[in-house]
Amino acid sequence: MDKRRVIVKVPASTANLGPGFDTLGMALSLYAWVDMSVAVDGITHIELLGSGMDGIPRDKSNLIYKVAQLVFKEAGLPEQELHIAMYSEIPLTRGLGSSASAIVGALIAANELAGRQLSMQKLFTLATRWEGHPDNVGASLFGGIIVAAWDGERADHVRLEPPPGLDVLVAIPQFQLSTEKARHALPDQYSRQDTVYNISHSSLLVAALATGRLDLIRHAMKDRVHEPYRAALIPGMSKILKEAVEHGAIATALSGAGPTLLALIESDSSRKDELQGFLLNTLEQEGVAADSIWLTPCLSGPEVDWLEQPTERVSLMEWIKGEVKA
Ligand code: HSE
Repeated sequence: MDKRRVIVKVPASTANLGPGFDTLGMALSLYAWVDMSVAVDGITHIELLGSGMDGIPRDKSNLIYKVAQLVFKEAGLPEQELHIAMYSEIPLTRGLGSSASAIVGALIAANELAGRQLSMQKLFTLATRWEGHPDNVGASLFGGIIVAAWDGERADHVRLEPPPGLDVLVAIPQFQLSTEKARHALPDQYSRQDTVYNISHSSLLVAALATGRLDLIRHAMKDRVHEPYRAALIPGMSKILKEAVEHGAIATALSGAGPTLLALIESDSSRKDELQGFLLNTLEQEGVAADSIWLTPCLSGPEVDWLEQPTERVSLMEWIKGEVKA
């Protein structure tokens, strides 16, 4: 085991991308940091920084601790007492992949401490099995746009470079929506018509993204598998998905399982304020308090920094000062 301290910066992600349910993900320029070292005092200590962390376990049932131990086990190493700190600017339970970022941060940090014994493919498989679907974890792990498939055993992916000149506006309602609840809103079966609709639109979207055909994205980013059913959980969503293109958006989607709504727009568009106003006003008219953030696709996966002295006193917050956005 490496005795140094490692800090891993991981991007947030949006899953589904319209018709690509459980398949298409994109990394976003909003981040979580996981700080990990083997406990020199032999006692596990977990510090969770930032807002929204109340109620998240700080003992050995903590997600980051458990995922790290999985890596050590897979690498044939014994359980390790750890010092862990985490700071996240990704709002929790809003459809921006906060748990996937934590899982990926834990996997990468633990694998670094273990001497990189596990391949990225192995980490992707572990992350997908843990999360249950590959689109958030894949985007956080590889950056850019991810086209992924998971059959319960095997996780495959192709990474696409996001088309240049694309900005992402996210409108984040202040209420939380668990993925579990949002998955319960979905039917068990779909008609052949809706299945064909999603296969064709998802395929078209991947081809449009791969070839930079921004003009097609508006038509391709339509879904019949999850958005129509989840719309009832998010007042204002249907209007936004239908009308945002009249306010400058290239396309819109529910981000992951929601409640965050995502709009793509050309970086040099003169209609950004109009689009932002439309999203926020629509939600407000429905009584939904929301914040909005301008983001860009994040082109790279996790960044790893080593601190040479495990006992070095600099805190995680001091280390990332100047980088934190939200
Ligand atoms: N693809 C998943 C879903 C993402 O929509 O349920 C959840 O974060």
